[in-house]
Amino acid sequence: MSAIESASIRIFIVVPPGFERLAMAEITYKFPEIVKYGESPSAVEVVNFSRGGISLEVPEEFVPELHYRLKIPTSIRERLYEFKCRDFPKLFNKIQALPWRNYLVGDAFELSVSAEKSRLANEKRISQTVSDGIHRYFAKQPPKKATSPFTHKIYVRFTNDVCTLSRDLSGQPLFQRGYKEMSAIAPLRENLAAALNFALSRACGPVEALIDPMCGSGTLLFEAWLFGRRWNRQTSVEGDYAFLHDDRWQSPDLQPERSQPKEMGSASKGASQTALKYFGFDRDESALQAARSSAKRLGCTEAFTFLKHDLFSEVSSENGRLPLNEPKKQNKKLNAAVILNPPYGERIKLPMSPQRYYPQLLDRVVQNAPNDVNIKALGVVIPKAQARFVANSVGPLERSEIFNFQNGGLDVQFHIFLSQVDKK
Ligand SMILES: C[S@@+](CC[C@H](N)C(=O)[O-])C[C@H]1O[C@@H](n2cnc3c(N)ncnc32)[C@H](O)[C@@H]1O
Repeated sequence: MSAIESASIRIFIVVPPGFERLAMAEITYKFPEIVKYGESPSAVEVVNFSRGGISLEVPEEFVPELHYRLKIPTSIRERLYEFKCRDFPKLFNKIQALPWRNYLVGDAFELSVSAEKSRLANEKRISQTVSDGIHRYFAKQPPKKATSPFTHKIYVRFTNDVCTLSRDLSGQPLFQRGYKEMSAIAPLRENLAAALNFALSRACGPVEALIDPMCGSGTLLFEAWLFGRRWNRQTSVEGDYAFLHDDRWQSPDLQPERSQPKEMGSASKGASQTALKYFGFDRDESALQAARSSAKRLGCTEAFTFLKHDLFSEVSSENGRLPLNEPKKQNKKLNAAVILNPPYGERIKLPMSPQRYYPQLLDRVVQNAPNDVNIKALGVVIPKAQARFVANSVGPLERSEIFNFQNGGLDVQFHIFLSQVDKK
């Protein structure tokens, strides 16, 4: 075993289904060292994709940084054990023989059980057996004295008669970033917003401005700004990262800095994700208020402008054009990307039929761009059921990619359109 392998840990990175490859690209982009490691002949086979996750073997000391820097994952789990098991006595025996002192604080734990395509299918009974096994282990050797109590979450998964035990390292889901005080109706989850921005910026390259004409509480814009930055969610101890309650990650230099988000170092220098200016528009003033207060909490008010504007109102300023008000540099147009998550007609009703609404919306976004803006790319979320109403091109932009995912239980798509003139 090489030195690096001896300090390695098997992790499962939970990501929104549909974004597995993109999430791996984020890891590759931000942690080139891991990928180099992953490409070594002995480790290459440990990079596995399954729906909604990536299995990876990484040096143990990377666990905190993965949490602070990756923005697409929902959570990160440590793979503990995997064994074939087709009856309850064997399950009990296996569980009571595992070294739980290494994974739990005191004898506290919480179980999440699921079973499919396995002889052991009764999830309640699996849970009871695992729980009895852990208690038996601690009856034989008393738990370490806990200095600060914490309940780790253990995942027990049965698939095809293989039992996989994992431990959550993240605590609260990672999309709960903690910068939002209030949010508007139907906000996008932060990690989905991060994924969409990363997809768009990979397609179009660097831009000077990012515009969201239906920004709501600003999630898409904030996540674009945050993508290249280190972030910790600054919560109470109960909401802390679970890995902080493990001796392996107790060293002070592995602790998150409780301060403003930091630009990342070498791996993210020249990050194409970071535009210079961010413009958010919405017709709803209370959503814009929420956005402004989040910008304050993030300490990034200077980069952001939030203005009231109705995309479908004929009487808004400059004949419906988005009021950007940016000083032009030497008569040069500002290179911008537009990203939006419009209403789906579910929680927010559409003013006309979806057949008419989505094509009109995209036309307006492109036609009504301010005169001094050159739109290089457009990324838009559309309910899958309505996607057929959207053409392959919008003005000078042509569709280049579609991502399928779910938002709030609804099948949706993210369509990326690129300017043919500016094509990379
Ligand atoms: C699904 S939400 C977008 C939420 C946002 N992406 C977020 O994550 O917070 C749609 C937003 O579009 C806004 N909206 C709907 N029709 C609009 C219009 N005609 N002009 C401007 N904004 C509009 C709504 O007020 C709402 O905030």
